[in-house]
Amino acid sequence: MAKLAHAQWSSRMTFVLAAAGSAVGLGNIWKFPYMVGESGGAAFVFVYLLCIGLIGLPILVSDWLFGRRGQKNPASTMSELARQANKSSMWAVVGISGIIGAFLILSFYSVIGGWSLYYTLNSVTGTFSGQDADGIGALFNGMLSNPGLLLLGHSAFMLLVIGIVAQGVTKGLEGAVRILMPVLALLLVVLIGYGMSTGHFGQALEYMFNPDWSKLSAETVLAALGHAFFTLSLGMGIMMAYGSYLGKEINLLQTARTVIIMDTVIALGAGLAIFPIVFANNLDLASGPGLIFVTLPLAFGNMDGGSLLGLMFFLLLTFAALTSAISLLEPVVEFIEERTPLSRVMATVVAGVGAWALGIAALLSFNVWSEPLMFGMGVFDLLDTLTSKIMLPLTGLGAILFAAWCLERKSVEAELAVSHWRKRMEHHRALCSARGCHRCLRHRLTLSRYGPASWRGCSITRCF
Ligand code: PFF
Repeated sequence: MAKLAHAQWSSRMTFVLAAAGSAVGLGNIWKFPYMVGESGGAAFVFVYLLCIGLIGLPILVSDWLFGRRGQKNPASTMSELARQANKSSMWAVVGISGIIGAFLILSFYSVIGGWSLYYTLNSVTGTFSGQDADGIGALFNGMLSNPGLLLLGHSAFMLLVIGIVAQGVTKGLEGAVRILMPVLALLLVVLIGYGMSTGHFGQALEYMFNPDWSKLSAETVLAALGHAFFTLSLGMGIMMAYGSYLGKEINLLQTARTVIIMDTVIALGAGLAIFPIVFANNLDLASGPGLIFVTLPLAFGNMDGGSLLGLMFFLLLTFAALTSAISLLEPVVEFIEERTPLSRVMATVVAGVGAWALGIAALLSFNVWSEPLMFGMGVFDLLDTLTSKIMLPLTGLGAILFAAWCLERKSVEAELAVSHWRKRMEHHRALCSARGCHRCLRHRLTLSRYGPASWRGCSITRCF
């Protein structure tokens, strides 16, 4: 995105795919299920969905709105918009803290990307075949206790990310995301089907959607809020940077709704695929970051065609992680490139190697450096907690405050095309009621989204 020199996305679809490529990743398939397991199930899911709808949606729209207005990298965008509004340039802190957050997340994200690569290889060699829960558990623990292996996976993953970002070929990934999303959704459907065959699907549904409110605590709410930010890639300037390439004609609310639905469906699908296997094998619900790596291989090892499905799944997971990781590195690179004389390639190498080095500390906290470093947590947990539970919500809050404080209500409304929509609705309502048409609401949406061409063959056109 950096090297597009403020060109615009070629279409709304392209933009949706890029945003979804960033949003859908390890957060949906790896992190969401284990957070549900650790936080006690449906109460967490419920709060998470609320956070997505009530907080995630407006922040996503604000990020895009700022980006479209500011037309620069997140830090410069914030100071430019503040300058235009005659406010302190200190607002740039919101952009800068987002960039630091992205760097920190990338460091541990890449470690999990490495796990995914390792499991892709294991699928090729048929390691999961016929294994029971103990065998799969031993494989996972063997990986965790081997720093060399973790380092290899982490390094390979980060090299891929650096290579792609250095070449600035992020645009080419849109085509891949176009294939990734549907195939990923299809694979999850197959796995949910497998979950149904275990006879524990009802229990999983109950666990995910029938809240036991006694499990709700301030900690759960904070975890759900933080995860809503993480999964939608909010509070890190990424969506702001994407927004800077948005054309004025794109409807922000509608587009945000599409991206959020895709993201949420994949996360819930992953939960529905994983929990029946957990219940069927009496696995530990709260087994943490290893949850998908000890459940899904069990399914792949014991179902017909499981080797191929396993291979496809872990490849797709790696790919989904890559598209998100690229979006994490990009704003850091953009920032370094703008503020230093370094070339794009050098900026990418500096940022990537920095995140890689920090990732080493994170991966060592699973084995040789497992004793707590601070607040009872090792480096991996510290990085995760600091970013998801503190930095992302605070940065997101900063963005909302900025919109409320520094931007004029009128101009925000203009950006969201509120008056355009209002006028259009009034116009149609007047016409429709004059001619007795009762379906103008649906009609209005159709017209606005697809333009007059979609009216062809629609009987309602008669009333105009
Ligand atoms: N949203 C990504 C996921 O759910 O895996 C992770 C992520 C990407 C977080 C980009 C933050 C970000 F800026």
